[in-house]
Amino acid sequence: MTKSPIKITDTTFRDGHQSLLATRLRMEDMEPMASEMDQVGFYSMEVWGGATFDTATRFLGEDPWERLRKFKALMPNTPLSMLLRGQSLVGYRTYADDVVQKFIERSSENGIDIFRVFDALNDEWNLSKAAESVKNMGKHLQMTLCYSVTESGRMGGPIYSLDYYLSKAKLFESMGADSICIKDMAGLLAPYDAFELVKGLKEKISVPLQLHSHYTSGMASMTVLKAIEAGVDVVDTSLAPLALRTSQPAVEPLVVTLGGTPYDPGLNLDHLLRLGDQLESILPKYRHHLESPKAAVIDAKVLSHQIPGGMASNLLSQLREADAIEKLDEVLEEIPATRKDLGYPPLVTPMSQMIGSQSVSNVLFGRYKMISGQVKEYVYGMYGRSPSDIDAEVTKTALKDYEKGNIQIHERPANLLDPELENAKSEVSNITDDIDDVLIYALYPTTGLKFLRIKHGLDQMPEEMKAEFNPKPVFSSDQTTSEHPPKSQSTRTFNVYVEGEYFKVDVDPVDGSINQMVPTSSQSNLISSQTNAPNASDGGSENSGPTDGETLVSPMPGILLRYLVEEGDEVKIGEPVAILEAMKMENTLPSPATGTIQNLRVTAGATVVKGDVLLVIT
Ligand code: CO
Repeated sequence: MTKSPIKITDTTFRDGHQSLLATRLRMEDMEPMASEMDQVGFYSMEVWGGATFDTATRFLGEDPWERLRKFKALMPNTPLSMLLRGQSLVGYRTYADDVVQKFIERSSENGIDIFRVFDALNDEWNLSKAAESVKNMGKHLQMTLCYSVTESGRMGGPIYSLDYYLSKAKLFESMGADSICIKDMAGLLAPYDAFELVKGLKEKISVPLQLHSHYTSGMASMTVLKAIEAGVDVVDTSLAPLALRTSQPAVEPLVVTLGGTPYDPGLNLDHLLRLGDQLESILPKYRHHLESPKAAVIDAKVLSHQIPGGMASNLLSQLREADAIEKLDEVLEEIPATRKDLGYPPLVTPMSQMIGSQSVSNVLFGRYKMISGQVKEYVYGMYGRSPSDIDAEVTKTALKDYEKGNIQIHERPANLLDPELENAKSEVSNITDDIDDVLIYALYPTTGLKFLRIKHGLDQMPEEMKAEFNPKPVFSSDQTTSEHPPKSQSTRTFNVYVEGEYFKVDVDPVDGSINQMVPTSSQSNLISSQTNAPNASDGGSENSGPTDGETLVSPMPGILLRYLVEEGDEVKIGEPVAILEAMKMENTLPSPATGTIQNLRVTAGATVVKGDVLLVIT
């Protein structure tokens, strides 16, 4: 047999820690390993993009551009690759073409060689501008098939069939792709389907083919092997400490498996083991992100619920923060139903977050009682075309009072956007004129601005962003241990606004379950949340002093993006008064009462927990 050594892309510095450590690996911990990694002989290293950009600015106080420049300097011999979400770049919405073009230009100039470009909906409308920009920079354009399944867990069915992938790949090749990647973000690609898919693609397209798979369901190592036998050119792996579980297959066993075969990648096992030891030695301080109540290192259930790694860990932390961890199974059941309603989008960022948090809302507040701004945008068409039609009733509900219009659009979403870069420049001109800074702000107006103020010394870095910050364990299966004293045993009461009406919701303080949900008419006394006044909460909360006025409380943990009113404004019940970003979705919060706005208590951009008072109305 002729030799056809398999090429290997290492994902340790991007997807490895994104999948397993909530993307929290700091540059200072990767830096000492980088030049050694550069010597391994990887085909490429994925080190940037995906969630790393957001996380660095939002949680780590770290400049992602600086990170990229350092990687480039430390790893001059290995092509660096990034994951780019098409027209959404490294954010969660559709950006204007000028932002897309400039972001790709600056990413190229700062060190990216290979752009892995995908769209959550595999919609070429959302890939065309990014593809063109990468080609204009003379860089490697890898276009991506997001692998998804219709319902059964295997390839086929009315939407995600072999033909679907073959025709998408053909189209991407005609758009100038230098290679095609199969992106199996949920570990759903079964080994024999991979064989069929790779074989089919190799017959149809002439550019190299790469496989990116997640181990989540336990199939990925087998899938990679079958893909190699079917002729795939490159596969993604991670060093063992950040492999398996919801991450990529590990490189070490693959190197041994392929040793002496025509596919032998020619990597040195001892070298990889040493790097693994080095990585292992820096990971203990990140352990709290790894902790899981389960003994299993795979999630066999993913085969039925189809939830990708990052999404599963996000869901867990969202439910944990909302004190509703016991709703996980219900949410996992709701996800396929929500996905079907919304036209079977593949579960990948940002669709995975949208479907995930909409499912959480559907379970906590009732189906489509609360619809995030992003899901409305998606239904409207601003994320591109859904693989199949969105449920007509859901469309009607979502677009009922939608500010952009109540019918769906049918054109490339970015066509509807005015250029955004010049505005972004002028909005941060008092802080910076560095284009890389401007892009951070253009991508994330709230958290990006917070970061820039810290970076330029206008604000202090919060304690929790600092490297030496030692977080408490986020997971505890035993709420009664001394580290986690039981919370007040009294029922907590919230005002929740759904479909134009306020409901009083009693939430069990121990398991987070909703005991009852009673409509509160505008005539009766609207109760105040008692969550911030534990002493007053005993025995329920009906009798909060009317002199305090009515309060708007945060229904979920999140970030208060902005108020839509000022103190002294007169508002009617139900009028929008604030925007809360929760579960990475923007939610409009309406006024709980008619009256005068008082006491806008929270600074825009501040983090709030469920039950925090946001404003008072008298
Ligand atoms: Co991935």
